[in-house]
Amino acid sequence: MQKKEGFTSKIGFVLAAAGSAVGLGNIWRFPYLTAKYGGGIFLLTYLVLVLTFGYALLVAENAIGRMTGKGPIGAFREFCAGKKSFLGSVRIGGWINSIVPMIIVPYYCVIGGWVTKYVFAMMCNPVARFSKDAVEKFAGTEMAASTAYFQNFVTSTWEPIGFFLLFMLINVIVAAFGVEKGVERFNKILMPILILLIIAICIYCGFLPNAGAGFRYYLMPDPAKFSYMTVVAAMGQLFFSLSIAMGIMITYGAYMRKEDDLVSSVNQIEIFDTGVAFLAGLMIIPCVVAFGGEKAAESAGVGLVFITMPQVFASFPGGQFVGVAFFILVLFAAATSAISLLETNVHTICQELKISRAKAIFLNVMEIIVIGAVTVLGYSVLSFVKPLKFIPKYSGMDILDTLDFISNSVLMPIGAIFTTVLVVAVIGIERISREIRGDKKWYREWVFQFCMCVIVVPCLLVVLLNATGLLG
Ligand code: PHE
Repeated sequence: MQKKEGFTSKIGFVLAAAGSAVGLGNIWRFPYLTAKYGGGIFLLTYLVLVLTFGYALLVAENAIGRMTGKGPIGAFREFCAGKKSFLGSVRIGGWINSIVPMIIVPYYCVIGGWVTKYVFAMMCNPVARFSKDAVEKFAGTEMAASTAYFQNFVTSTWEPIGFFLLFMLINVIVAAFGVEKGVERFNKILMPILILLIIAICIYCGFLPNAGAGFRYYLMPDPAKFSYMTVVAAMGQLFFSLSIAMGIMITYGAYMRKEDDLVSSVNQIEIFDTGVAFLAGLMIIPCVVAFGGEKAAESAGVGLVFITMPQVFASFPGGQFVGVAFFILVLFAAATSAISLLETNVHTICQELKISRAKAIFLNVMEIIVIGAVTVLGYSVLSFVKPLKFIPKYSGMDILDTLDFISNSVLMPIGAIFTTVLVVAVIGIERISREIRGDKKWYREWVFQFCMCVIVVPCLLVVLLNATGLLG
């Protein structure tokens, strides 16, 4: 993202943005949230939001970046310059957008560490160990072996820290030496392989006994399962997965050439990102239901991919090899996203503190190590720490959940409100629409304008109120 010369082709832009968007959000976060929040109803809510909210914000952020050629702080500052009182204060939106990736990157690296561990876990254990009928002990209790294996790993003290640091280091080295281009090139080959592999696993899962119930759970919305939390969770997921409300798409937009068609680029990112998430759900959820019933799906948590996928790999010949390949590919998808997070932070720190890139990397690494290590320990020696204990609804959240919740369900909606106010009240909806449209026909212009002017702010306010625990 530090490529000052900008993207040299439209496809270069789309691939870089898609590389940032497609990551753990699609493969780790989306399936477990879908399982937990009622399957089909969550999927439906998510799709509606992507096509309205997500789309509008994605377009808006890219346009803001392209109009100013700046990152979020600079762009907000430029538009708000000279404006008085309220409109002038909208500029803090740039800061909110910039702080979010700093909160996300430490725990992103923690989960990246889990993926790294599972590459080794798949290599070093006979895959039969994870078979759905095998049992192992965790804390003295017998349970499904793959669950016990995961729990034993995350609740140990040093191992997860080691893998977290390993994952972080790989990404920092790539960012520090500026070899992202190489990684992107790799990804051009590996992403399609990952998608093909996911499709193949989906087909295999379709033949599992009881898979029908799983497909029904995933694809048939059950209105009885709908609640405020469905929307809050889907909204948070949308921000996370599309990499919006955190300055990333503004920064990407800044590197986009004027002559490139913004609308079709955004369409491609949206379709790609949502497609991969949909497929990941189609791969995992029928298996959870087939192996453990709907109850297992509803009690899903952050460990879902790590618990269910090994069980799937244990269920067919050659699964060991597929398991290793799967986690390596996920690791790559995670790395491109982590690198884009790092790049954004480094860019912000460099510009705002006026320090060298090396110092900015150092500062960011220190921050990641401290917050990441505390997050890891939240599952072991710090497991008594429940940061949101004082809000009854969230009293059980551990540190990772809390960071995830604060960034996705609190700060990102606030950031998105600022972006919307910037678009509607400061820049002006007509002016930005003209920039986006160029001289082409833009079919979804009314969706964009309607969302920006009418829907986004009230809905986000409701989401925020709900997040505070005051509603629902
Ligand atoms: N969108 C990425 C994912 O789905 C995560 C991410 C968020 C990456 C923000 C960059 C910035 O995994």
